[in-house]
Amino acid sequence: MNIAKTLREFRSLREQLPSPVGFVPTMGYLHDGHLSLARMAREDGASVVASIFVNPTQFAPTEDLDAYPRDLKRDLELLEAEGTDLVLTPETNDEFYPAGYDTWVDVAGITRVLEGASRPTHFRGVATVVAKLFNVVQPDRAYFGQKDAQQALVIRQLIRDLNFPIELVLGPTIREDDGLAMSSRNAYLSAEQRTAAPVLRRSLDRVEALYEGGERRGNVLRDAMQELIDTEPLATIDYVSVANLETLEEADVLEGKALVSLAVRFGKTRLIDNTILPRGASLI
Ligand code: PAF
Repeated sequence: MNIAKTLREFRSLREQLPSPVGFVPTMGYLHDGHLSLARMAREDGASVVASIFVNPTQFAPTEDLDAYPRDLKRDLELLEAEGTDLVLTPETNDEFYPAGYDTWVDVAGITRVLEGASRPTHFRGVATVVAKLFNVVQPDRAYFGQKDAQQALVIRQLIRDLNFPIELVLGPTIREDDGLAMSSRNAYLSAEQRTAAPVLRRSLDRVEALYEGGERRGNVLRDAMQELIDTEPLATIDYVSVANLETLEEADVLEGKALVSLAVRFGKTRLIDNTILPRGASLI
């Protein structure tokens, strides 16, 4: 496995890779969710590229950029064990954002709700860095996880609108045995918060069960999620949502596919999770 710490180094190593190239962008501190994407890319293509870059522009000044967990040595070992060919891990932020940097990619519409409403500059940072990564890596396929469902929809729009010749491939949310979705941020949870956090998956289970029992009223489904999460004193809801999957607008009555999603804080740690209705339907 080759490791490139500068874009210049990366470009010369990338030239030697046989096609098709699969790309797994990450911010590091890898878990099984990331590794399952690397595995999918390995099975699908001739070459696998991953990036590890904690992208500063997707964090607001009040968020956890400096505290974001990092373990580069372990990440590289894990990627190598999955058969990754090349890793881009810029040593400094200047590689992507040199002094005077001032170009931004703003996907409109679907970034204004849910995560975008709670974190107004987040998707501009994500779309900008992903567009830059696509330009540098030039993959045939790019792999993203369904846990960040809205991010996946934003990347789909970015690929379409900016004519990237890239196939978007989504991997399922990978969960701990008790249902908690894997996330690098789970590392921040105290023992008590970790015990409480599976309430998130249980609230999604409840919505799925109500839907399967015939319930289609958006407010009833949202209230059911909220009620269950409120039984957990350590959880503070940021939002619960039952939205039309195409527009991400809150649904009055569910017709077609819906994205059921939530963001909940346990102390300072903000976790997200989601499911698609009908159960098993694909996000894209
Ligand atoms: O999902 C993530 O880890 C990040 O948002 C991404 C796509 C690597 C961009 O920084």
